[in-house]
Amino acid sequence: MRISVIGCGYLGAVHAAAMTALGHDVVGIDVDARKIEMLAAGKAPFHEPGLNEILTDALASGRLRFSTDLADAADATVHFVAVGTPQAEDGSAHVGFVDDAIAALLPYLSADSLVVGKSTVPVGTAARLAESIEAAGARLAWNPEFLREGFAVRDTLEPDRIVYGVRPGDTRAEDMLDAVYATALAAGTPRIVTDFATAELVKVSANAFLATKISFINAMAEIAEVTGADVTQLADAIGYDARIGRRFLNAGVGFGGGCLPKDIRGFVARADQLGVGDSVGFLREVDAINLRRRERVVTLAKEALGGDVSGRRIALLGLAFKPDSDDVRDSPALDVGGRLAALGARVIATDPHAIETARAVQPALEYVQSTTEALRDAELVLVLTEWREFQSLDPVAAAALVANPIVIDGRNCLPDDEWRAAGWDYRALGRG
Ligand code: UDX
Repeated sequence: MRISVIGCGYLGAVHAAAMTALGHDVVGIDVDARKIEMLAAGKAPFHEPGLNEILTDALASGRLRFSTDLADAADATVHFVAVGTPQAEDGSAHVGFVDDAIAALLPYLSADSLVVGKSTVPVGTAARLAESIEAAGARLAWNPEFLREGFAVRDTLEPDRIVYGVRPGDTRAEDMLDAVYATALAAGTPRIVTDFATAELVKVSANAFLATKISFINAMAEIAEVTGADVTQLADAIGYDARIGRRFLNAGVGFGGGCLPKDIRGFVARADQLGVGDSVGFLREVDAINLRRRERVVTLAKEALGGDVSGRRIALLGLAFKPDSDDVRDSPALDVGGRLAALGARVIATDPHAIETARAVQPALEYVQSTTEALRDAELVLVLTEWREFQSLDPVAAAALVANPIVIDGRNCLPDDEWRAAGWDYRALGRG
């Protein structure tokens, strides 16, 4: 298939390279010239394991190119729209970039064209966009993306399900998408063909469910903190029930990133507009529980330092919103670092990949390139992103570097027995 991917961010860049790997002819389009230049040179503009490799292979095949000019999408028959839908000030999802991309694409559409929405949008957006696309003689499908950062390449090449939202009876759109995803479908990937609204809701409800699961265990962590219980053992015990499952029950400083926080807020805003705000009112609580965990780390830090963090040297290990990513959008780690710096602490921060992205948005921290530098003379250590490098730190060597061996494990990711045995005052979230 001849494919264009409009928007080459975390989603689109991976999608463009992955579609080429599946044998298609692909052009990736983005308005950001720097991003396009990097992608065209085979360099991922952000850290995503495996992306550089598939990008290099895809470019070498001669079937992938990148451009800032939408006119280069004219030859394609399938146009994936993968632009961002950032959170607007009122919490709703801003769909302006999607609207702009579709409007700009209209002159290049014909009766053979299929526009495929991938961006996460408020329910009802596809039906609205379909009007102008159909007036141009083309068709629209909504095909939500479930990729996780850090696993984006694998999730795109081997998705756990594929969802098509199409006009009822639009078998042409279905057939075209089947051709795009032939490899995954041949491997037995479940496929659900539905209407626009359901396809849009699948995405936001999946993320709402995941956010709820995390906030559920973090709510249990709050209870554990006043009862002396241990939330990690609680999660293990309830997780053995297959109906519950252990995944996404890791208590800690909570969820962040470009999807979960914004998607639940966008969902609440959209439900309010539709007059069914009460149906997802619990998501406000999910959000509140999540944000309380950040403040809890600040409280623990104050306690650990005798009540006042001002002028104290705090090592912050982790800046990305999760490991294997350089993404700091709504990162709990960066947020906590910023709060402590605002209270006058000297926050010495490091991360295997996210220092530059963090520095660009949070200049108040002191960034250092190595864990050793961050730990040196620290009066308190915070571990807020569970990178493998931090989990496998030698607690004995780490204790020799710091001024004060107190650690707050904000992800419940350290072997606490080993840290205690090495003389650390080990503190964590939800552990009594
Ligand atoms: C999420 C969805 O998982 C993905 O399907 C969707 O397409 C986009 O949004 P992503 O944002 O990459 O993906 O990260 P995810 O792995 O879901 O983690 C989100 C946040 O939750 C991270 O900050 C992570 O640290 C946190 N988290 C996750 C927990 O606090 N506890 C857990 O048990 C799991």
